[in-house]
Amino acid sequence: MAQTQPILITGGTGFIGSHTAVVLAEAGQPFVILDNLCNSSPKVLDRLARLNASPLEFVQADIRDSAALDALFARYNFAGVIHFAGLKAVGESVAQPLRYLENNVSGTINLLQAMDRAHVRRIVFSSSATVYGDPAVVPIPETAPLTATNPYGRSKLMCEDALRELHAADPRWHIAVLRYFNPVGAHDSGLLGEAPNGIPNNLMPYITQVALGQREYLQIFGNDYDTPDGTGVRDYLHVMDLAQGHLAALRALDTPKLLTVNLGTGQGVSVKDMVDTFARVNGVPIAHRFVARRPGDVAQCLADARQAKALLHWQTQHNLERMCADAWRWQSMNPQGFDTPL
Ligand code: NAD
Ligand code: UD1
Repeated sequence: MAQTQPILITGGTGFIGSHTAVVLAEAGQPFVILDNLCNSSPKVLDRLARLNASPLEFVQADIRDSAALDALFARYNFAGVIHFAGLKAVGESVAQPLRYLENNVSGTINLLQAMDRAHVRRIVFSSSATVYGDPAVVPIPETAPLTATNPYGRSKLMCEDALRELHAADPRWHIAVLRYFNPVGAHDSGLLGEAPNGIPNNLMPYITQVALGQREYLQIFGNDYDTPDGTGVRDYLHVMDLAQGHLAALRALDTPKLLTVNLGTGQGVSVKDMVDTFARVNGVPIAHRFVARRPGDVAQCLADARQAKALLHWQTQHNLERMCADAWRWQSMNPQGFDTPL
């Protein structure tokens, strides 16, 4: 991959994409961002500029828009694509399955077709640990059985299957399927972070909003799981480590291949551990109440992280304390998310 050839980041104004933009900029890798802004703010671009991580161009477009993609691929000689664009709310996907499948699956197929037309056959794809469903074995190896328990998960599995079938049919492709565990934290400048719309579904943004006083208390979904303290156990990783994983994947795709890799720490953290660590590190107590289990949740989900180390030469660098400190710096500096004037 020649350094001067840019990378296309789809979904690059979103949570993980914006942090990956900073990592690429730091590595001297130019990039273009395409995003339809359905779940992100254009103000992210101002923050990226302050971090010396501006894209060569920002294109407000949809990955389902073939004409926009063809025009973009004609303007740049892309070395490859990091494909984050997608809808990601599990509950919403249950209510709106067709919207999720259309956006995530049709969108990805449309993007792959545009790439093929432009002879750009290198892609890093955002998959999720959700493809493991309720895992029989933890830590979960990449060879574990795959299943979908909701339309969001099905959309990821269908995209993965499409990528596997594409590679089998045309081995010229360079494909990395990255299965993220639970990304949290924020850039340590406090300029970039996660800014969910409405009531957060995920644990960390809910905790930071309780810390800020925007929500009264955290509901801990279940304290009767078969885990050391009864609360759900997950594999949380810092979003900057996850961003570095994308650079590592691009580098590993120097020759045509299909890589499928978990990105996680391999360490289990319970909801109770997270609440206690956040309160201790930041000196802010987190009011909480135990309530019933959330339907669809599993007791434990953590990565077998050995393949990432072997194939991508990547492992996480940031610990749980750092995830909590950076998440709180972001939230406290930006109580209104990207609408907060800085
Ligand atoms: P995000 O919502 O912050 O970012 C996704 C971006 O994609 C948004 O900016 C959105 O506007 C854009 N987008 C959505 N549909 C689009 C379309 N049709 N055309 C153009 N742009 C579109 O989400 P994120 O947390 O940064 O997640 C990035 C990717 O990683 C997603 O594919 C998500 O499913 C996957 N993932 C996320 C997590 C997580 O916990 N955040 C975990 C596993 C996998
Ligand atoms: C959720 C999604 C999953 C997605 C992942 C990453 C569901 C069922 N699963 O996973 O598909 O890939 O996010 O975005 O939505 N918790 C509380 N109180 C809260 C919020 C969460 O106790 O208010 C607990 C959960 O029960 C879980 C843990 O915190 O034990 C983490 O939850 P969350 O951040 O939503 O992530 P996942 O459930 O792992």
